[in-house]
Amino acid sequence: MTALNQIYKCNICGNIVEVLHAGQGTLICCGQPMELQQEKNKDEGLEKHVPIIEDLPSTSCEVKDGVKIKIGSVEHPMEDNHYIEWIEVIAQDGKIGKKFLKPGDKPESDFYTRKQVVGARAYCNIHGLWKSN
Ligand SMILES: [Fe+2]
Repeated sequence: MTALNQIYKCNICGNIVEVLHAGQGTLICCGQPMELQQEKNKDEGLEKHVPIIEDLPSTSCEVKDGVKIKIGSVEHPMEDNHYIEWIEVIAQDGKIGKKFLKPGDKPESDFYTRKQVVGARAYCNIHGLWKSN
């Protein structure tokens, strides 16, 4: 049984999937159940992985336009063998935005929304799934 927006990984081939519609079945890849990626925010290494949400400066019309999400209070490495694969923002109205990153990119992204942002997630290719506090 799955739940909306859960992330599962195949530990054999490396496939990673996100649940867009929950179902009763077990997700199978390479002949075995995929592993549910738990959202971490208090584990070892939190300073380099927990997303930090900052308001973007207001525009001239003083409307809040969005947020900057940075990965880690200490910037996460973005090396070929260790990097943040994506950053996701979750707004109060249920909208989700995602930015995919590659080695060499800065581990941050701006997201534009006039709705309140209620959380953010990020995925490290080595240390897994992290969620903002
Ligand atoms: Fe990491």
